[in-house]
Amino acid sequence: MDDRQRYDRATAHLDPPFAVLDLAAMRSNAESMVRRAGGKPIRVASKSIRSRPILERILAMDGFAGVMAFTLPEALWLVSTGLRDVLVAYPTADRAALAELASDGRAAREITIMVDHPDHLDLVESAVAGVRDRHEIRVCLDIDAGFVAFGGRLRIGARRSAVREADQAADLAADIAKRTGFRLVGLMAYESQIAGVGDAAPGSPARTRAIRWMQARSRRELVSRRGRIVHAVRQVADLEFVNGGGTGSIEKTAREKAVTEIAAGSGFFHPRLFDFYRGFTGRPAALFALPVVRRPAAGVVTVLGGGYHASGAPGPDRLPQPYLPCGLRYDPDEGAGEVQTPLLGQAAEDLRVGDRVWFRHAKAGELSERFARLYLVDGEKIVEEAPTYRGEGRTFL
Ligand SMILES: Cc1ncc(COP(=O)(O)O)c(C=O)c1O
Repeated sequence: MDDRQRYDRATAHLDPPFAVLDLAAMRSNAESMVRRAGGKPIRVASKSIRSRPILERILAMDGFAGVMAFTLPEALWLVSTGLRDVLVAYPTADRAALAELASDGRAAREITIMVDHPDHLDLVESAVAGVRDRHEIRVCLDIDAGFVAFGGRLRIGARRSAVREADQAADLAADIAKRTGFRLVGLMAYESQIAGVGDAAPGSPARTRAIRWMQARSRRELVSRRGRIVHAVRQVADLEFVNGGGTGSIEKTAREKAVTEIAAGSGFFHPRLFDFYRGFTGRPAALFALPVVRRPAAGVVTVLGGGYHASGAPGPDRLPQPYLPCGLRYDPDEGAGEVQTPLLGQAAEDLRVGDRVWFRHAKAGELSERFARLYLVDGEKIVEEAPTYRGEGRTFL
């Protein structure tokens, strides 16, 4: 039985739209990520999952340790439900959440917040000033891992921290050490230009060559810079962890001596944008089904909804992929629509009103913002339902 038949059969009693997670596919993706990490633990990026029971399932597997959360309120909630060791990977300016963190012993033990500038420390100090008996706040230093060339005229990689060199990192570490109420426990440097950019994209061979050149140069530069930074900061603080990488760079980042753990999330669901890497292949694990609601002309069907664009620089690669049956494509004039989406192609001929089309999201966790639950499919059956953050009434971003 092919995947389309299997998914159709498992969900025959449901009315789309709905989302499913193929557990066997996710397990196989997770195992491959662990192999690629070569013995270093993987911290699970919650943004790429956004479902508590799924995070728990992953953390129960060998090779995974800790959560990389995206907001402090999210981290507080996760810890209140029993999850441990949660690193908030982006700076927070949420004063109420900071005050809650400082006043709650368990949260303060389990959560680490991100800083890259004394302004962050000042903001925390003012947010927690009114808290009596406050607990020490665990902090992690975010380092810029971007690629810079041609005297600074070329810069590639997410714009995150302004801390780039060992002396800057050591200065900020010393500032943290000087202040009361903080403990520097970690370093993080996320090389998005390697981990998040496929090096086998279809289309332009020249672009692919340029990406490979950039990534090779960037890796070489980062190995030595990250090593120097970690060495310098370790003179000032006892670091518990040095985090780096993402799904696209696991095996490369894991080889660096200075890195103690890898962050990864997208690889579990293996969304469309992760099809284009030379180093690994995954199995699409998260899918959503939309119903065919009309047939406007020969060779065209229209499905309900569909406009679940992924974040990032806008472009066709941010659209969901019409996945099964294969051979469907968007109408270039309409794309993926707010309430309906026409799909063109030979495969449309065989689809009737009430049939379903299976899609993959371009990214991973954003799918969970669209659905209250994920139906967990094993083989030909739904074995469980897992609420998403949205299904638990939580929207953090
Ligand atoms: C700090 C950080 N680490 C790692 C990742 C990689 O996550 P994923 O494996 O989901 O691509 C990201 C993604 O944006 C990130 O922001």
